[in-house]
Amino acid sequence: MDDDQLLYEGKAKSVFRTNVAGELRVVFRDDITAFNGGKKDILAGKGAYNARVSAFFFEYLEKNGIPTHFIRMEDERTMIVRELTMIPLEVIARNVAAGSIVKKFPFTEGQRIDPPVIVTDYKDDEHGDPSINDDLIIALGFLSPDDLREVRETTLKINTLLKDFFTKAGIELVDFKIEFGRSGDTICLGDEISMDSMRLWDLATGESLDKDVYRFGKGDVLSAYGRVVDKILQEN
Ligand SMILES: Nc1ncnc2c1ncn2[C@@H]1O[C@H](COP(=O)(O)OP(=O)(O)OP(=O)(O)O)[C@@H](O)[C@H]1O
Ligand SMILES: [Mg+2]
Repeated sequence: MDDDQLLYEGKAKSVFRTNVAGELRVVFRDDITAFNGGKKDILAGKGAYNARVSAFFFEYLEKNGIPTHFIRMEDERTMIVRELTMIPLEVIARNVAAGSIVKKFPFTEGQRIDPPVIVTDYKDDEHGDPSINDDLIIALGFLSPDDLREVRETTLKINTLLKDFFTKAGIELVDFKIEFGRSGDTICLGDEISMDSMRLWDLATGESLDKDVYRFGKGDVLSAYGRVVDKILQEN
């Protein structure tokens, strides 16, 4: 088998085969994009920040009983993961209303959502990642009813674990997006958990510490991402 064969180049990560069957190499690049690729830049060091935070949370979640694809870090921006058959869904948990949910529904920005809500989008850039509901997920064969329940329960558990951790670190977990895949019969958490995939607000100041800083030109993106890394390491 070809080592280093590029399997997939996404907007922020590149996925390669390794010479070990069933293991992939995920490289977190310094590219940052928003608005489905409409805004693009390269920020030196951003990939390493996201890789570090992702690795940290994959280990934290594993310790708390959530199966993930994480195996080990190879270098500061490169993660070795278990190859999954990805389920083409973006599973989003929301604790506070912000972003697209405020545009689509009569929530006000910053409104608390308790109990949290989980929504799902069909992961398909060509169709603009449209929202999808449970019946469609089952009709399209993405998940059985039992697996759908499991994904929902696992997402709620991940939300509680992440929210508790972030609160201690002085950060509000507003929302996050995750992706799952299958390894044999096990549904594992895949992809990333990073400042590109979560919305994080500083509990003291309300400042954004995530990709919204980039989306809306709210300040220095790298220093916001770096602050999350510092707060996480301090808390740990
Ligand atoms: N363990 C895994 N096995 C197989 N594929 C994976 C695994 N983890 C993540 N992936 C896939 O790897 C790709 C990572 O690419 P990346 O996140 O850069 O781009 P994207 O998801 O296509 O676009 P974007 O995130 O910008 O919407 C995604 O398609 C993701 O679903
Ligand atoms: Mg992605």
